[in-house]
Amino acid sequence: QIPDSFPATAQRPEYIPNRISDPNYVRIFDTTLRDGEQSPGASLTSKEKVDIARQLSKLGVDIIEAGFPAASKDDFKAVKQIAMEVGNAVDKDGYVPVICGLSRCNEKDIRTAWEAVKYAKRPRIHTFIATSPIHLEYKLRKSKEQVIEIARSMVKFARSLGCEDVEFSPEDAGRSDREFLYQILGEVIKAGATTLNIPDTVGYTAPTEFGQLIADIKSNTPGIENVIISTHCQNDLGLSTANTIEVFHYLFCSTWGTCRLRQVEVTVNGIGERAGNAALEEVVMALKCRGEQVFGGLHTGINIKHISMTSKMVEEYTGLHVQPHKAIVGANAFAHESGIHQDGMLKHKGTYEIISPEDIGFERSNEAGIVLGNLGVLYFTCVMLFVYAQKHNLILQPAPWHSGRHALRQRLGELGYELQDEQLENIFWRFKAIAEQKKRVTDADLRALVSDEVFQP
Ligand code: KIV
Repeated sequence: QIPDSFPATAQRPEYIPNRISDPNYVRIFDTTLRDGEQSPGASLTSKEKVDIARQLSKLGVDIIEAGFPAASKDDFKAVKQIAMEVGNAVDKDGYVPVICGLSRCNEKDIRTAWEAVKYAKRPRIHTFIATSPIHLEYKLRKSKEQVIEIARSMVKFARSLGCEDVEFSPEDAGRSDREFLYQILGEVIKAGATTLNIPDTVGYTAPTEFGQLIADIKSNTPGIENVIISTHCQNDLGLSTANTIEVFHYLFCSTWGTCRLRQVEVTVNGIGERAGNAALEEVVMALKCRGEQVFGGLHTGINIKHISMTSKMVEEYTGLHVQPHKAIVGANAFAHESGIHQDGMLKHKGTYEIISPEDIGFERSNEAGIVLGNLGVLYFTCVMLFVYAQKHNLILQPAPWHSGRHALRQRLGELGYELQDEQLENIFWRFKAIAEQKKRVTDADLRALVSDEVFQP
């Protein structure tokens, strides 16, 4: 017998750490193992999924979307194993992540998802159905009324299985009709949904538009004050992080103080369908760096020192390489190549870094992230500096050239070589000649240069 309605209460309060009741707390819902694994070219074994889930728990994510249990036997197995293991590993502060399984809006999917997640201390079913005109007409071939009825009855069905935490997503919300969204969301709230996730499924919206969409949903959906609102932004126009962050602005800032938009969906390294999703590390670090000044003190529970390790693990297991200039976790994110930047870095790291790489567990090859690079960059820098100095009537110091030597001396020192000025001078010109030919001068090149200079007969 399915009851008519369910209270939208917080489930299993004993495992919900105090941090969740903090009004400025933003829940991080990680979907690396579900949307992330849908990336072309990525596929993970059950063991790899469990390893990543353990790492996500160490990272402190609030909700792990562990997979789509009805999609395959392997997916079911992995989600169940994650629910049993990671979903029961309560830490000393009482924290254990919610383990979530995705399902379409049908009884078979929902039952399968429940069978997989129910072993967790905090299980969640996430069910979705499309709401945009193009999906209704071509994919579902259903009317709005039919879709509302399916969504309402399936959320109710999920609650009837004993699941106290049900998330609902109107797929392609970014291109859906507003009035229809208010209506369907109002109905699923009545049916017992506890989180409403608003996906920009095809990454179509611009930041102000997406922010306004969430604000309108918040203002017009009956019963919304009793549930958590969430965002899920895809990256087709490269706007996923900007869209997610924009919503903080609209809803988390002071005038919206009591709003319950408190969840963002993200993936490690931003992997996911097509161009991927909002990247966990970008959203988290934006709040960490600017939360106080720009977003009214909003913060997450992420242990940022595990960010780099988690990124590397996901990169290695999925085989999806992180582009070198990727924000926060790219190999170049803390590397400095031009002479002026190197000079600044050697004087004070804050000149060119807003994040300390050690804080996110990033290990760089030398203390100031100095990359010994090509002469062209150095030359260009000097010319620009010269032009600037002329224009502004400044007296030009030979700092950029010195910074090249300075950086070289510093790196050689780190490699254990203390050279006389004359030796350094000789090596410096040969180093530049190599730098002109190669993109990067490696430590092995430097050792060879020193060995030629110091040990030549
Ligand atoms: O992009 C999307 O719409 C989704 C939903 C299932 C949340 O991944």
